[in-house]
Amino acid sequence: MAPWLRLLWLLGLLPGAAPAPAPPESRAAGAVEWEPPSPELSGPARFALDAYNRGRAAGPRAVLGTVRGRVRRTDQGSLYSLEATLEELSCKDPMVCQLPVSKKTLLCSFEVLEELGRHMLLRQDCGPVDPKVTDLRNETFSSVLPLSSKDSLPKEFSEKIVSVFKDFVATYNRTYESKEEAQWRLSIFTRNMVLAQKIQALDRGTAQYGVTKFSDLTEEEFRTIYLNPLLQEKSGKKMRPAKAVGDPAPPEWDWRKKGAVTKVKNQGMCGSCWAFSVTGNVEGQWFLNRGTLLSLSEQELLDCDKVDKACMGGLPSNAYSAIKSLGGLETEDDYSYQGHMEACSFSAKKAKVYINDSVELSKNEQKLAAWLAVKGPISVAINAFGMQFYRHGIAHPLRPLCSPWFIDHAVLVVGYGNRSDVPFWAIKNSWGTDWGEEGYYYLHRGSRSCGVNVMASSAVVD
Ligand SMILES: *[C@@H]1O[C@H](CO)[C@@H](O)[C@H](O)[C@H]1NC(C)=O
Ligand SMILES: *[C@@H]1O[C@H](CO)[C@@H](O)[C@H](O)[C@H]1NC(C)=O
Ligand SMILES: *[C@@H]1O[C@H](CO)[C@@H](O)[C@H](O)[C@H]1NC(C)=O
Ligand SMILES: *[C@@H]1O[C@H](CO)[C@@H](O)[C@H](O)[C@H]1NC(C)=O
Repeated sequence: MAPWLRLLWLLGLLPGAAPAPAPPESRAAGAVEWEPPSPELSGPARFALDAYNRGRAAGPRAVLGTVRGRVRRTDQGSLYSLEATLEELSCKDPMVCQLPVSKKTLLCSFEVLEELGRHMLLRQDCGPVDPKVTDLRNETFSSVLPLSSKDSLPKEFSEKIVSVFKDFVATYNRTYESKEEAQWRLSIFTRNMVLAQKIQALDRGTAQYGVTKFSDLTEEEFRTIYLNPLLQEKSGKKMRPAKAVGDPAPPEWDWRKKGAVTKVKNQGMCGSCWAFSVTGNVEGQWFLNRGTLLSLSEQELLDCDKVDKACMGGLPSNAYSAIKSLGGLETEDDYSYQGHMEACSFSAKKAKVYINDSVELSKNEQKLAAWLAVKGPISVAINAFGMQFYRHGIAHPLRPLCSPWFIDHAVLVVGYGNRSDVPFWAIKNSWGTDWGEEGYYYLHRGSRSCGVNVMASSAVVD
């Protein structure tokens, strides 16, 4: 008998065949396996899916993806062991719910007993499918989250996205040189909406990703213009380690409420985050040691710090050392930001603050919190994964997507706390107030998210 005939016979599905004892060799194997597609499994699988959907909170129902499994004949009936993928919508925004890619895939195993045509669910075990992601050092979003051709967009979605794009162009006052360029930007925008939803589906925090002022840039453009490749080299000036502060960290802290933080600035189309991270830290140190909050000059660092590379990136450690050897920092008003490198016009007479030294901080997040609460805002460098599309909430990307080995953005930690039991770092960015939460980024705390702990430093004012 051919194997498939034997299967049918075994199940009593062959016309005339009795639901009889299995042949000895099948008995020995104990079970019969099917590869998909297997219509024999669809009854038990649909039963398991219904049970799964009944068991969850209100919301869109999950649907069956692939099913494979085995059946075992017992005295009570047939016992099906199933492995099924379920697709669940992971979006909250009704517009983006139309996206074919905003689904979450679960891998479930079910045990279903079938007796006299009735089903009973004996076991259910579901978990998210591990996204196949590995080391990202040398990869881009699009290679990790590929947009395959089968992700092509439904017509209603394309129409909707054109209107969202028009809103975007109006909101951010975008102008394009030609119709072709506008078409090209629309296609990038569409692709980015899909990408943002994939990042959303994989985020473990409370962050929302979607339209931002960077939504019409390719990730390559964004990386080149706004991020800082030098941070990966980590070959900057060696700093001495900071002395730990004794006390345990208070449960929450916010230097903005204590007047130690200037308003959010905007680095423009220039990879100068490192300069903003450092001036932010020095502003805090000066305030805490001298009692005056002064907005300090990033342009001085772009023009006069010859070790760093102005808009091409830099390292906080080199910048502290430049401030020390130049003889201090001028204020923002005296030496204002241009967003590109110019000739150095620093004048020691105009320097309003000095620093005496710089220190490297602990890589332990609890110690960082304790240090911050006593000493002031901290310069850190992070992996900027997802920040192009970040809108608000606490970002908590999967570790492989936001590897600490791929640090490309320098920022300023100004506080920490919990929002409904989710611990966060409050991070001052330098992309203007029309990005993130009024210019701020919230990142999960306590999981070394995005390498937030690997390059923490501060200036010292004696
Ligand atoms: C990164 O990718 C490029 C091109 O695919 C390759 O030449 C290079 O060796 C890779 N670098 C690392 C560190 O893997
Ligand atoms: C919008 O952009 C145009 C041209 O770039 C500029 O003249 C205008 O002032 C901008 N408007 C706003 C509100 O930013
Ligand atoms: C810190 O640096 C300033 C300016 O260079 C200097 O006047 C001051 O004496 C230094 N403080 C200490 C304790 O060395
Ligand atoms: C913050 O949340 C974490 C994780 O839920 C919890 O362990 C911690 O006790 C919370 N801290 C405060 C101050 O509520």
